[in-house]
Amino acid sequence: MTTPTPTSNGVAGLAAPPGLPDVATLSRLAGEFFAALPGGGASPAFAPAAPSAAPPVVGASPGAALDQPPPEPVAAVAPPRGGSAAPAVPAAYAAALPTVPLSGVPGPASPYYFAGESSAHRNAPFGLSEAALLPGGSAAPESFSLPGDAALKALLAEAGAGSSRGEAVRQEATAPGFYFLDVGGPQGQRYAAPPEAPAQIQPVRPPFDINAVRRDFPILAERVNGRPLIWFDNAATTHKPQAVIDRLAWFYAHENSNIHRAAHELAARATDAYEAARHKVARFIGAGSPEEIVFVRGATEAINLVAKTWGIQNVGAGDEILVSLLEHHANIVPWQQLAAEKGATLRVIPVDDDGQILLDEFRKLLNGRTRLVAITQVSNALGTVTPVRQIVELAHQAGAKVLVDGAQSVSHLRTDVVALDADFFVFSGHKVFAPTGIGVVYAKKALLESMPPWQGGGNMIADVTFERTLYQPPPNKFEAGTGNIADAVGLGAALDYVERIGLEAIAQYEHLLLDYATQGLKTVPGLRQVGTARDKTSVLSFVLEGYRTEEVGTALNREGIAVRSGHHCAQPILRRFGLEATVRPSLAFYNTCEEVDTLVAVLHRLARGKGNR
Ligand code: ALA
Repeated sequence: MTTPTPTSNGVAGLAAPPGLPDVATLSRLAGEFFAALPGGGASPAFAPAAPSAAPPVVGASPGAALDQPPPEPVAAVAPPRGGSAAPAVPAAYAAALPTVPLSGVPGPASPYYFAGESSAHRNAPFGLSEAALLPGGSAAPESFSLPGDAALKALLAEAGAGSSRGEAVRQEATAPGFYFLDVGGPQGQRYAAPPEAPAQIQPVRPPFDINAVRRDFPILAERVNGRPLIWFDNAATTHKPQAVIDRLAWFYAHENSNIHRAAHELAARATDAYEAARHKVARFIGAGSPEEIVFVRGATEAINLVAKTWGIQNVGAGDEILVSLLEHHANIVPWQQLAAEKGATLRVIPVDDDGQILLDEFRKLLNGRTRLVAITQVSNALGTVTPVRQIVELAHQAGAKVLVDGAQSVSHLRTDVVALDADFFVFSGHKVFAPTGIGVVYAKKALLESMPPWQGGGNMIADVTFERTLYQPPPNKFEAGTGNIADAVGLGAALDYVERIGLEAIAQYEHLLLDYATQGLKTVPGLRQVGTARDKTSVLSFVLEGYRTEEVGTALNREGIAVRSGHHCAQPILRRFGLEATVRPSLAFYNTCEEVDTLVAVLHRLARGKGNR
């Protein structure tokens, strides 16, 4: 057992356990480690928003506003490549926009933090090898694993000051050694590491202040059935930080108007806020231009848009569309409909027993008739991170376009659509801490320009007569009618929030948390995990002997734990494993080891109830 000691930088430290270096040594080791990372391990701190050089634009017309820099109520990050100037609002107004601080981001860089304060675009994430980085420092999902400097990680993890898990351990005065092995959950259940658990499993040390981050999400303070809410249904939807809630309230209190039409102050504010959100999305996914970003209701509508525009135009009789067995129904049904309409064929890329794509089988399926490969980046049912980069490359070699479904990946892994070379990339806002009802189609500009519009109506036209209609250029061509303006603005605020924590820090923490939870579930007698690919994120699907999945879901709900049970809108992949349903806890960066302990403890109790061994 280690005891906390104060340190000169104010971060609670730990006296060195026997056989381990002291804090000063750890600090030096960490410094050396980060210095050895590409770019010296520098974590570029967020700069405050640069004051706008533009003169105040009072009552700017939407057209005029588009020529001005955007309001940046939160931290500034590099603009999207080739991005055009964003709109502006009056400077005094922009200055008054809510700037909700991110309480979860630690202050000055500390050797006790793996990543520190950063968007960490170029900061090699701890736990991700250099090989896992795309050019420019983006994390490559297919390399998402746990290599790295295990020894240093062990030392740093042991020093885990600030971790809520660490706090729990420190309070356990009698608990010796690594607390993963020794400390049970709040229910008093103790579980030992299973024999097959790798010896190097470490307690999870968030690279940010987890307690402060949790305070940013007011709903996490809810109680359900008299228990603290444990939200393990993040693959279904994520909760919203106060910054997003405040941004929505601000929009309706100060900006509410329709966009792109009226030349009055509120129309300018609403237009600017909406277009600023488009810029933020472009930046967040590494798009070349905000003009490549189309706002839709969510990933499902996004895929339908592509199927009913590009698909109708480019898929013909005898052509083939490839999807994987991992797909959500949203990435199956629109292609099935298109194939039926056009006389094309839908073909399916199989997966192995762990739930990973069989790349060799994929290669065999590709041929000159393949028009499109529609593939998820992360399976919503199993958590598999698919090798999308190789898939895009191989598909392109065969002359096919690729749509990447990023619904389950954008909140967990850094996205760089240019590095990925995806032709289309879609996601839903509500899975990345933004409101429901807003989502995104990214498509390469040339594709958007060549695609016919989908829905017709206001906002997407340049000129209408009864003889013909001229359309706006993309993205407006695809945004008929009044869109979800406020929630697009909320999406921008959510992406700002995520970027301030840093996708690399999030990926690192979630990966360790997933590993921890995976080992915990392994200790439950009669529990079968489904989806055991090496490259996984966030999802733990399982069945428990003696129980229907909804019984497990109900029992967990009684303890305040929210999981999804059922087919997860992904029936084909569950049937691949002989199942119609699973229980699916799914993680986000605001989850903790204590929550995992509670889940595991309840499952142990259920297992004992059925005499599972
Ligand atoms: N697609 C969401 C899920 O996986 C609803 O639960």
